[in-house]
This record gives sequence, C-alpha cells and structure tokens, in this order.
Amino acid sequence: MTREAANRPVMLTDTKARGLADLPPVQSDSLLALIALAAADPRADKIDVGVGVFRDGAGNTPILKVMKQAEQRLLDTQVTKAYLGGAGDKKYAELLRPTVLGEHAADARIAGVQTPGGCGALRLGFQLIARANPKARVLLGTPTWPNHAPIIDGVALEIVEYPYYDRSSGAISFAKMLEALEAAAPGDVVLLHGCCHNPTGADLSDDQWEQMTQVVARRGLLPFVDIAYQGFGRGLDEDGRGLRGLLTACDEVIAAHSCDKNFSVYRDRVGSLWLKTASEESTRTAMAHVLQDAREMWSMPPDHGAACIHIILDDSELRARWLVELAAMRERINAVRRRIASFDPRLDYIGRQFGMFSLLPLSRDQVLKLREDHSIYMADSGRFNVVGMADGDIDRFTAAVVDAMDG
Ligand code: LMR
Repeated sequence: MTREAANRPVMLTDTKARGLADLPPVQSDSLLALIALAAADPRADKIDVGVGVFRDGAGNTPILKVMKQAEQRLLDTQVTKAYLGGAGDKKYAELLRPTVLGEHAADARIAGVQTPGGCGALRLGFQLIARANPKARVLLGTPTWPNHAPIIDGVALEIVEYPYYDRSSGAISFAKMLEALEAAAPGDVVLLHGCCHNPTGADLSDDQWEQMTQVVARRGLLPFVDIAYQGFGRGLDEDGRGLRGLLTACDEVIAAHSCDKNFSVYRDRVGSLWLKTASEESTRTAMAHVLQDAREMWSMPPDHGAACIHIILDDSELRARWLVELAAMRERINAVRRRIASFDPRLDYIGRQFGMFSLLPLSRDQVLKLREDHSIYMADSGRFNVVGMADGDIDRFTAAVVDAMDG
C-alpha cells in the first residue's frame, strides 16, 4: 500500500555535506505552524480551530479548578525538588493504573512509567520495539496524527499504511482495516487510537474493537494503543474499553497514555508508557530498557504536572472534582458536535463522532480560502477542533464552512 507524503525533514543525500550550514531546511510541523499563523492574524474575529486544545464556551482554556487546588497544595507542602529518578513519580503511575487499565490494574505483568507527555511515551515504546524486533513493520491507518509517522521513522521502523477512514462516506473503512491486519506478519505492530480518533473523530464501535482484537490476537500482532483523550469521548471507562479488551486477549500490549488533555495541563507534558508482556520478569526487563532509553533522551521526566495529578488521584474528594470537570469538558464537546451536525445534513456525521476532532469535506484550497476570507484557521486536511471556538462563534463558523462546501 502506498505511503502518504509525510510531514518530516528531507534527509541529506549530498555525501560532501559536512557542516551544520549544509543542513537542508525543515518543513515545519503543520499543526504547530498553525498556532503561529493564527496568533499572527490581527483580525479580532479570528477563529482558531487548529491545534487540539479544549476551549470552553467563552473560548478560553482555563486551568481546571481542581488543578489550581492541587498546585496550591503542592506549593504549600513540597519541601524539595531533588531528583526523583529515571521513572519520575512512581506513585503517579501507580495511582493512574485503575484509570488506564480498569479491571487489569492488578495484573503484575503490566508496568507503567511516567513520560513527558504521550509523545514521549510513543517514542519510548517504538524505540523498545525497534530494539526487540528491528524488522517489525508498523501498520498505520490513514489519516492519522501527523506526528505518528515522524516518531516511527525516528527509530527506523518500516511503516505500512492502510486506509482507516473513508472521507466520502464519513465512515471507518473497517473491511480494509481487517484486510491489512490479516496480511501482516506475526510480530508486526498495529498502532491504534484508544479513543477520540485524531484527526477523524471516527472511533471503532465496541463490536469492531472486538473483531479487530480477535484478528490481532490470532495473527500474533503487537498492538500499540495511543490513548491521549481518555474521558473526552464517552467516559473514562468507556474510552478505555478498547485497550482493556486487547489486554484481555493479547500477551503483549503497549500503550502510550496522556493526561495532558483530560487534566488540561498541555504544556506540563504529563504522560505514561504501559507495557504488558507474558511474564512479570520479561516486563521488568523490557521496562529496564525503557528506563535506559529515557535516561539517554531526557534523563527524567518533568515533575510538576505529574506531582499535581498524583495529589488529585490520591485524594478521593479532589478526584471526584476532577471527574466533574472532565465530564463538563466532554459534555461541551458533544454539545458542539450536535449543534454543528444540525446545520446541514452533510455534517450529520460530526454528531456521531467523538473527541475534539473531525474532518470537514473541504479541499485544501477551500481551507485556505476560509483562512483568507473569514480568519478561520484549521489544518490543511480539513481537520478542525470542534471545541476550538467560543459558543458565540459556532453559527458563523458553520455558515462559513457550509458556504465553502457549496462554493
Ligand atoms: C493535535 O493533534 O492538535 C495535538 O495533539 C497537538 C499536537 O501535538 O499535535
């Protein structure tokens, strides 16, 4: 299957090139570039539905109230900032176990470790795979988050793409997905979105998860679940169900989890990597490799965000408050989805999807025209953040999108 043009640097082919000045230009990351473009637009009525940060009805990304409380408590009680060690805050990972693993929390064959965001966990997980099985190929459903392919390329694993989503029908190409998994070799890796698929919002149904899981287990594939938006779709447990099904069916599973979004601590970079192998001993060995790799890359993860989440998860009252604030974020996401879907039958599918993102049926030219004419900033692919705009901007946004579709 063909490989989509990825957003990654062009590699040097000139063997004479030696100095830093000979480096070729790098094509900047499309999503991060969009933040800068939107910020530079002086028009007061601009709408930034580019990068994935939750915004409330007023268009702000406030710090959660419960996070402010935890930060205050940390400020009042923290007596040292001495090193914690390569695994970071071990209690943070321990407290997170039931949230991520559900009924598998007590399984000693599963270990988790703090990482700098979900991105750090993805990099560590793929590095571990490359170390164990450099010939493993990674099956990547397209479209996917633009940073997936560069991370996998970074550890020199081969990528095999398959079509995950059909833009014309707004549905998952499930038969094609299964076909690709059936054609894979044992030991190949399948990268899956745990929930709130980025960029399509099209999540597998429970039935599809079950069928896909059976194929993965039967074919001896290694599932790697990227779960960055737990709680933004249907609920914490519901959004973790796919991962948990894989943990039931497979001896080996890897997951990259992020708390950046569901605790709204984006810039604090709070993630974790989870490994399951067939035995406690092999999990310990695999984790030792992970820690060695982490030591080479960042030595230790940043503490602040994880320390605050540790405080929240360790206090039943604060945890309950977090759940209320998380539910409010989820409800806004789903309410905006329903509202946009009600505008035009062609946008119906948006009401049936989950998480912060959906793809609009727009060409790149139409996306650029929306930017020029209406100061509406979304990814060139037509991916938009459904909660990127304030309540007061939803009608204007949707009318402009429908106009663009008609024009
Ligand atoms: C996004 O997809 O917008 C976020 O995950 C931000 C990022 O790092 O790309």
